[in-house]
Formats: sequence, structure tokens, C-alpha cells
Amino acid sequence: MKIVFATSNNHKASEIRKMIPQNWELLTLVDLGITEDIPETGATLQENAEIKANYVFQKCHIPVFADDTGLIVDALDGRPGVFSARYAGEYATYLENCQLLLHEMQGIANRAARFETSICYIDAQGYKRFFLGEVKGNILNEITGTNGFGYDPLFQPEGFLATFAEMPAEQKNAISHRAKAFLQLYSHFNNISGNANI
Ligand code: IMP
Repeated sequence: MKIVFATSNNHKASEIRKMIPQNWELLTLVDLGITEDIPETGATLQENAEIKANYVFQKCHIPVFADDTGLIVDALDGRPGVFSARYAGEYATYLENCQLLLHEMQGIANRAARFETSICYIDAQGYKRFFLGEVKGNILNEITGTNGFGYDPLFQPEGFLATFAEMPAEQKNAISHRAKAFLQLYSHFNNISGNANI
């Protein structure tokens, strides 16, 4: 089956590639030659996922899914949330975003946070479905680990001593927000398998 993951983020693509069967052909924006930034103007993760999926579906008419992820920090009233990519500015690097988060969390005892992922899937007929994944954890006091991307070096998932950035990709993938959302999409495919609408 041929499906587009509407991302140009290699980290995200490689996480999903580890979860799909060998007979899937997973294309990314790079493979489709879509190089422009898709404006993420939604007020929620779900709206942004829908904007990205719509944009790509209009161009290629192949089944497509897009994800949008946010880090929701309790002590910051849910920030950076939908602004996670642009937390420290429009073109902020992962490191700059992590540094700003550390700065804002200085002296705060409540370190509780969660990642949320919304996936929007559009099938060959243009029908949309949404899937959510979440993982709870804590924000550490310093950057720890070099794997992964984004806020991974600051995020210690509940029940683990390691941050996401200290885990092998397979371990992050077993518990992550994106993996949980994708597994729901995957079971949706299994439920309708044999159906040409995929
Ligand atoms: P996006 O809009 O879904 O690409 O995600 C927004 C921002 O959230 C990214 O720029 C990353 O900083 C962060 N992010 C997304 N997914 C992850 C993840 O799996 N781990 C850590 N940070 C992430």
C-alpha cells in the first residue's frame, strides 16, 4: 500500500518507518518534492494536523496522514502546546526551545508535562479520521541524552529513569505519543483491511 506521511522531519519519518509492514510504501514530503513550509495556523494540534494532511492530499490525491505534536507543561498553563516548534521564536532550533523551557521552569517544583500527538488521516476518497496519542512525564532540570529530537532530552516519561533522548529509538517507539496515535491509525487499517478504501 502506498501512503504519504506529510512531514519533512526525518526523525518522525524514521520513527514511523520502524512501525510499518515491509509491503507499505511510505512517502514523505521530500519524496513528493513538496519543499514549501505548510503554514500551521490552527489553534489546536488537531487543526494543524488537518491543515497539513489537506494541503498534501489536494496536491497528490494519495492517502495521507499528518501529525502535529505539542509538549504541554502543567506549570506553564499548557505551554508551549501548539506553539512547541516556535516556542523560542519563528525559526528557533530544538536547542533554543529546550533552553527557553529550562529557563521558564527554573525554580518550579511541579515538573509534570505530557506530549500529545494528533494524527489526521485522509483516505483515497477524501474521508478524514483523527487519532490521538499521549504520554505523561516530567521535565528534567538539564538537557540529558543525544538521541531523538525536539524536547526529547528534557522529557522523562513516567515510569522511566531515562529521557526520550537517552532511549534507543525502539524504546521511545514502544511508549511514545506519536507511536500511540499511529497504532490507532494502523488498527483502523487492520479493521478495514480488504477494503479498497484504504
Ligand atoms: P510538529 O509541529 O508536530 O512538528 O511538532 C512541534 C514541535 O514539537 C517540534 O518542533 C519539536 O520541537 C516538538 N516535538 C514533536 N514531536 C516530538 C517528539 O517526539 N519528541 C520531542 N519533541 C517533539
